[in-house]
Parts: sequence; C-alpha cells; structure tokens
Amino acid sequence: MRPWKVALSNRGMEGLRWAFGCGSWQPTRSEWLLAARCVQAEERERIGAFVFARDAKAAMGGRLLIRKLIAEKLKIPWNEIQLERTTKGKPYLANPVLTTIPNFNFNISHHGDYAVLAAEPNLQVGVDIVKTDFPGSSSVAEFFRIMNRQFTDYEWKTIKMAGDEWAQLDMFYRHWALKESFIKAIGIGVGFNLQRIEFHASPLHMQTGQVSKETMMFLDGDQEEAWTFEVQEDISQEPPQFTLLSFNDLISSAIAMAPEDPVHWENFQAKHKKASRQHRMPV
Ligand code: COA
Ligand code: MG
Repeated sequence: MRPWKVALSNRGMEGLRWAFGCGSWQPTRSEWLLAARCVQAEERERIGAFVFARDAKAAMGGRLLIRKLIAEKLKIPWNEIQLERTTKGKPYLANPVLTTIPNFNFNISHHGDYAVLAAEPNLQVGVDIVKTDFPGSSSVAEFFRIMNRQFTDYEWKTIKMAGDEWAQLDMFYRHWALKESFIKAIGIGVGFNLQRIEFHASPLHMQTGQVSKETMMFLDGDQEEAWTFEVQEDISQEPPQFTLLSFNDLISSAIAMAPEDPVHWENFQAKHKKASRQHRMPV
C-alpha cells in the first residue's frame, strides 16, 4: 500500500519542497511552548482552538514551515514576518514586496501525518497532500456517487478503470490532489466549478516513490501548457522531491514573538488524541 500522495501545480521547475512529519511529532512541553511563541497571535489562537491534537500539530507545522521559508530564503527576521490571508484564506507575505524576488510564492498542505510546503521564486504554486483510505461510513460506490460532480466524465472513467476498489480510490485521490493543487495555486478555494478543470493523469500506474510530471490539465476544454503538475506517490518513502525536516530544523531560524505562556501547553494537553476525520469533503 502506498497511501500518501502529493500533487503540485506550478509554472516553474526550480522550487523548494519541504515536509514535516507532524503526525509522529510528540512535542515536549518546551517544544510546544516555543512553537506557540514563534507564530502570530491569531494563528496561536486558531491552533489553540483545534479539538484534536493532530490538527493542532499539523497547523503548527504548516505555520513554522512558512516562517522558516521566509526567514531563510527572503532573509526577513522571523519576528518581523507579517503573514496575512486573502479573503479565500490563502496565506501570503504582507511585508513590503522585495525587489529581488517580487513573485515569490508558497503554499502548504497538511493532512494528519505530514505538513508539506512548496515554494517557487517567480511562479505560482499550489500543493496538496492526501491519504488514500476507504470511506469511513459508506461503500466505495456510494462514496463515488456522492463525489460525482467533483470530476468530469473523462476523469471518472480513468478512476473507475484503475483496477480493484483500492486502486480506484488511489486514482480518485490522485485526481483530488491534482485539482486541489491547482485550486490552491490560484487561491480560489471552494466555490469553483470543478467540472471546468479536467486532468489527464499520466502515467496510469505509478511506483512507490515515483514522481510524475506528465499529467496534463484542460481548462474549459483547452490544454493548459503553462502549468506543470507533479505527483509523488508515498512521500513517507525516500522523498526525492521533499526534504523531510525535524522540529529542530523548523525552528532553527526562529525568533520568539511572545513570552512563554504555560496556558498553551495545558491547552494542548487537553486536546483529544484521537485521529481527526480523514477528509474535509465539500458539501
Ligand atoms: N488557496 C490556497 N491555499 C489556501 C487557501 C486558498 N484559498 N486557503 C487556505 N490555504 C492554505 C492554508 O495555508 C491552509 O493551511 P492553514 O490554514 O493551516 O495555514 C492550507 O492551504 C490548507 O491546505 P490543505 O491542508 O490541503 O487543506 P484542505 O485540502 O482541507 O483545504 C482549501 C484546501 C482550504 C484551499 C480548499 O481548497 C478546500 O476547502 N477544499 C475543499 C475540498 C474540495 O472541494 N476539493 C475539491 C477537490 S476535487
Ligand atoms: Mg488538502
């Protein structure tokens, strides 16, 4: 089984990709309190509000990845980085635009075990990580029926021809991640008619750890040649594209932005340890 896959959409090939194993991270008191001091107040509050520890760790990992990226690549001191969100929720750097890298672009995704980041110096980028899993409360056929409008007829044909149920789910989530990566690159979030985007996945069969850049996308029927889509199967194996970072790596450039507050540890310890729900599905 190779459940983890990640899809990236971008217009350039010289990017940076980092991953953090937030699922296996068991923060010590001092790690969690330090992490809480190293994110902006509104994010500290948002992370504190998660019911499940897994979600809080994933969101924390994502924020630290972004700040590390900006501190190290754009040389902005950690505590001076100002991250804001678009009305659709996409984080961006609000500090005055740098003349050297005016189109610097990044995006993160987290899904239970991993938080991942992709960044490009000049070009738009979106990233999505998903885990192939059986649906929690319905059959695969029922699950696909509910998801019908997310994919085009061509995409459903590719999904349903993939093989047994697991192979079909795997292909479903490959398409899911591909669509999300594009939606996230352009920052539109939910509400976009997903039938307008059609992926022609290639190759159909991917090996563990394989990276594919052959997938094509059609927007309103026209092939979009300016975009590149990278799919990687199972980033828990040797991640050729992604550099796996430790917590110490994440905070190696950090400058605390708030005094230590033990409340954040008490809050974290009170969170439920159960796994969060698998996928945030559209309604
Ligand atoms: N555009 C790009 N990135 C965004 C974003 C947007 N509009 N809104 C949030 N993000 C970033 C944030 O950094 C966020 O993490 P943070 O809030 O902890 O900082 C991160 O993307 C979340 O990405 P991911 O972990 O992949 O979450 P998701 O897959 O649950 O949600 C959304 C991704 C929010 C961008 C959005 O596409 C969504 O809700 N999709 C719902 C599912 C859907 O309809 N999918 C269709 C696929 S077939
Ligand atoms: Mg996602």
